[in-house]
Amino acid sequence: MNNGFRNEKPIGVFDSGLGGLTALSELRRLMPNEDIVYFGDSARIPYGTKSPSVIKKFALQDTRFLLSKGVKAILVACGTVSSNCLNEVYEEAGVSVVGVIEAAAKRAAEIAKGGNGLVAVLGTNATVNSGAFEKALNGFGISEVISVACPMFVPLVENWHPSVDDGATNAIVSEYLLPIAAKKPSAVILGCTHYPLLEEVIKKYLPESVLISSGAVAAEELKALVSKLSIENSNGGATEFYTSGGAEMFVKNAGRFLKDMKVEAAEQVDIERFE
Ligand code: DGL
Repeated sequence: MNNGFRNEKPIGVFDSGLGGLTALSELRRLMPNEDIVYFGDSARIPYGTKSPSVIKKFALQDTRFLLSKGVKAILVACGTVSSNCLNEVYEEAGVSVVGVIEAAAKRAAEIAKGGNGLVAVLGTNATVNSGAFEKALNGFGISEVISVACPMFVPLVENWHPSVDDGATNAIVSEYLLPIAAKKPSAVILGCTHYPLLEEVIKKYLPESVLISSGAVAAEELKALVSKLSIENSNGGATEFYTSGGAEMFVKNAGRFLKDMKVEAAEQVDIERFE
């Protein structure tokens, strides 16, 4: 039962760019009365090709920016950060932090146990190198995991108009997925929050697999946590957007990542200041 405002501070969400908007979209739907602050580090994207120490440095700056906005909880809507330094983000934040690994691994394990037991993880180089999804899946009783690094997916989604009939999109997606298609994994984790924009074309190469959007299931986990901690807000509903890149470009491109939502404005942030 909701007894009023409880905690009117906003929820913070961050990603290396626009991909985290796939998680924000779901969070907005699930929690219409929360204020949300989104930060996309578009000036420094991609994170997935960087070393763990650089990813950590960027993630802590992103976290400090959100803390400067007074957030009560943080959704790390980036598979690369979640898999490389979620604990460090949590220690820095001092508020509740949810990443995109656990809930997706749990959902995939449930599906795979009812199927052939095999889970595929698609992610950035840094996510795959971390082994974080495998570890989480092992913890949920899944031992058969195929991980595929798909480094061309983020630039494709950020800079192109991927569609199921587009030649360039099909050439790139098939390059990564044809080698695993015959194994017919029961569940496929979209371990990078940009990948749901390629859902239709991924489905074309893995038609029998259930695709799991790691950002969307993490939004469900955050909602459950906020409710468990009794820190819901029943009086908000605003969304603010910040980016380290160009604000106009952010507004122009954000729409492709959001269902039922429009971005009217975004503010540019000098993220290097958050040392
Ligand atoms: N959305 C980020 C992720 O989930 C993209 C990674 C990148 O910037 O390379 O991993």
